[in-house]
Amino acid sequence: MPREIKIAPSILSADFSRLGDEISAIDAAGCDSIHIDVMDGHFVPNITLGAPIIADLRKTTEKPFDVHLMIDPAQPFLEEFANAGADTITVHVEADIHLDRSLQMIRSFGKKAGVSVNPSTPASALECVMEKIDQIVVMSVNPGFGGQSFIEEQLSKISTIREMIGDRVIELVVDGGVKVDNAARIAQAGASTLVAGSAVFSGGDYAGNINAIRSAATR
Ligand code: DX5
Ligand code: ZN
Repeated sequence: MPREIKIAPSILSADFSRLGDEISAIDAAGCDSIHIDVMDGHFVPNITLGAPIIADLRKTTEKPFDVHLMIDPAQPFLEEFANAGADTITVHVEADIHLDRSLQMIRSFGKKAGVSVNPSTPASALECVMEKIDQIVVMSVNPGFGGQSFIEEQLSKISTIREMIGDRVIELVVDGGVKVDNAARIAQAGASTLVAGSAVFSGGDYAGNINAIRSAATR
């Protein structure tokens, strides 16, 4: 039976002058969760938004907020993002030294704990934390910007991680460069959630875009 594929639009490609409306629109268009990219201009070469904005956006939808922290350090801010209304908080393996502690902290705040790996980080970096995570985010672009091309080498890493997950209940998220034409291959490699920024927000037909990616992935 094909795995059910969830679609998480990244609001990085939304119109930031109308973020609340954009989130309501992707909610109505049938997304499964809202992917929020937090960038600090240090871990990645771009700056986006922080916890106070997420707290305000929380009023616009009941869908889960999947907060992707591309910040270093992340640990001092985890509680703030939990209080802002994140449902899942994802930290990067390559950021803070004490990943295990960050994951324990996220769960202690009653949130789902996610770990993300950059394209150059091997799957083995996840081995020692597999029992402490609810989500793995495989970066299929170098984080920092929307609209980049999918890095093909990540497909085999996705398959490796799917095997590592085995029977565990861990969401396998692929983030970066997801489009209608590669969604099937990414899902086949083992992804259960596809993040899509530019592919959802381009053209204005959000429901059409979400449905096209989902049905390509489920095919
Ligand atoms: C990249 C972000 C992604 C990105 C996805 O740093 O983590 O979420 O915005 O955008 P697209 O789908 O346009 O690659
Ligand atoms: Zn992201």
